[in-house]
Amino acid sequence: MPKDKITIHAIRARKKSRKKICAMTAYDCTFARLVDRAGADIILVGDSLANTVMGLESTVPVTMEQMIHHASAVMKADPRALVAVDMPFGSVQESPQRAVRNSVRIFKQAGGIDAVKIEGGKKMAGVIAAVVQANIPVIGHVGLMPQYRAMLGGLKVQGKELEAARQILEDATAVAEAGCFAMVLEAVPRPLARLITERISVPTIGIGAGPECDGQILVLHDILGLSEKAPKFTRQWASLAEQTVDAVSAYCKDVCEGNFPTDEHSFHMDESILEQL
Ligand code: KIV
Repeated sequence: MPKDKITIHAIRARKKSRKKICAMTAYDCTFARLVDRAGADIILVGDSLANTVMGLESTVPVTMEQMIHHASAVMKADPRALVAVDMPFGSVQESPQRAVRNSVRIFKQAGGIDAVKIEGGKKMAGVIAAVVQANIPVIGHVGLMPQYRAMLGGLKVQGKELEAARQILEDATAVAEAGCFAMVLEAVPRPLARLITERISVPTIGIGAGPECDGQILVLHDILGLSEKAPKFTRQWASLAEQTVDAVSAYCKDVCEGNFPTDEHSFHMDESILEQL
């Protein structure tokens, strides 16, 4: 483990120090290494791998096995960043006992991760408290919860009306009181995210929730320009889709035109051995 490993205590302390938390998703060893080298504080193995890796529209079908598979690959990067893993839909909803069993399984089998993330508000507070009681650190996730898109009426901004805003504030308060050490606030209006950030004791990590959150998280494929469709709240800092297409088409052209491979890419042997064949 790196000696300057980011711990849950370091993340909690950011609320007071006001140093922003930078979180980013990653789903494999190569990108986890790069995200870690870039200095992210938290790597989230998000169930957004449904969209970025598996080509699915929804995160609902993602399984425990898939999360363990990707989280294990991320852990091979031995990151300094704290690594959190999404509990997939269905793995924690049934009962606190089942949630603890599945969280323990991911914690044991995913190569030494640091925390799990659980989507859900007040209704999931009992589940979160049970997982924390089992000594597994939890990041909460309220506001737009993509696993509950059917109940929420789609992937859209949450909490614009009084009742909905009150519900999200109650959700955030309940989840913080249940013992999570940080909380993702997704797609909520900036003023509501600011109010929640002021009212709750744990750091908020916003995604589409304005700049007053204690930290930010985005999906790696969106910022690298690898997603076909990215949400309004993200920004693209690179154009890797174009660069990938350019590189692969240059490779195809060189192969077709006989310009690759050349002698420098070839292995050699003693000609006398060849003569004996
Ligand atoms: O699955 C995910 O990547 C997430 C983040 C975008 C917060 O939940």
